[in-house]
Amino acid sequence: MREMLAETKVSRDDLVAPIFVRPGAGQRREIRSMPGQFQYSPDLALETVKRLADKGIRAVLLFGVVEEKDLAGSQAWAADGPVQRLTGLIKNTQPEILVMADTCLCEYTSHGHCGPLASAGLAGLQDVDNDAALSLLARTALSQARAGADIVAPSAMMDGQVGAIREALDVEGYQRVCIMSYAVKFASSMYGPFRDAAESKPGCGDRKTYQMDYHAPRQARLEAAADAAEGADILMVKPAATYLDVLADIRRRFDLPIAAYHVSGEYSQIKAAAAAGWLDERAATMEITSAIKRAGADIIITYFAEALADWLG
Ligand code: PBG
Ligand code: ZN
Repeated sequence: MREMLAETKVSRDDLVAPIFVRPGAGQRREIRSMPGQFQYSPDLALETVKRLADKGIRAVLLFGVVEEKDLAGSQAWAADGPVQRLTGLIKNTQPEILVMADTCLCEYTSHGHCGPLASAGLAGLQDVDNDAALSLLARTALSQARAGADIVAPSAMMDGQVGAIREALDVEGYQRVCIMSYAVKFASSMYGPFRDAAESKPGCGDRKTYQMDYHAPRQARLEAAADAAEGADILMVKPAATYLDVLADIRRRFDLPIAAYHVSGEYSQIKAAAAAGWLDERAATMEITSAIKRAGADIIITYFAEALADWLG
């Protein structure tokens, strides 16, 4: 009877598995702060994608990890970059898999910020040059579309990034590539383990000048409205579990599909507590992802995607 009366259920079709991909071959490196998550070279990442697909997880979100970094983050749009290579491999072998590519520069810049730095301004504070980032993000998205990505997912939180990417894609004939915008992305301590995984910790300062302040939930509506007006096809709220109020509010106010990103810190908290024997990993994960779904997420991006596929039976 409980099954019958369940009002919301997490399903495999809701889930997206993030994948970290690095150059080379035969590489599989466990991420210290994210037990059970790995950086893979494209060949081994492809095996993981196959395994996920066999379990019914048919969407992946790709993040690149590179050693060669520079001020602009130029490896982000390299035609043979790890994300572009893996995208091509997936599309050549398993075209039915939905490939989402994270579109940002922080994994590729020597300073670790999500856009190029502007020269020091008032008080000697160095900040990201929002407008200079736009063309670089558009180039990155275009290289991902050329490689075969179905969805590009801009995560830099630069104002105008969705519009710049939409225009660049359309001009080059990629009208059918969707944009999943990290529209509502808070400056959060919960991204700590990810920055280990993606080797993208900012060398100086923080991301508070471009990511949102968690004290200001109404701004979430402004950010979501701006991205919707610029042509976003899917709006994302991030983090997820600690922002269910924001997620529910955005769900009520917008008719676009809503994605929620259950981020690295939210994953590692559960893994650490479970390893200590303090939490039941399966029960905690089912409960939290159900809460994310109940709050209004159509799409849940989570490092637990594969585990959930096993647990959902
Ligand atoms: C980079 C990016 C981040 C995440 C996704 N894309 C980190 C950040 O903004 O520092 C976080 C994902 C996670 O923590 O799982 N723009
Ligand atoms: Zn970034």
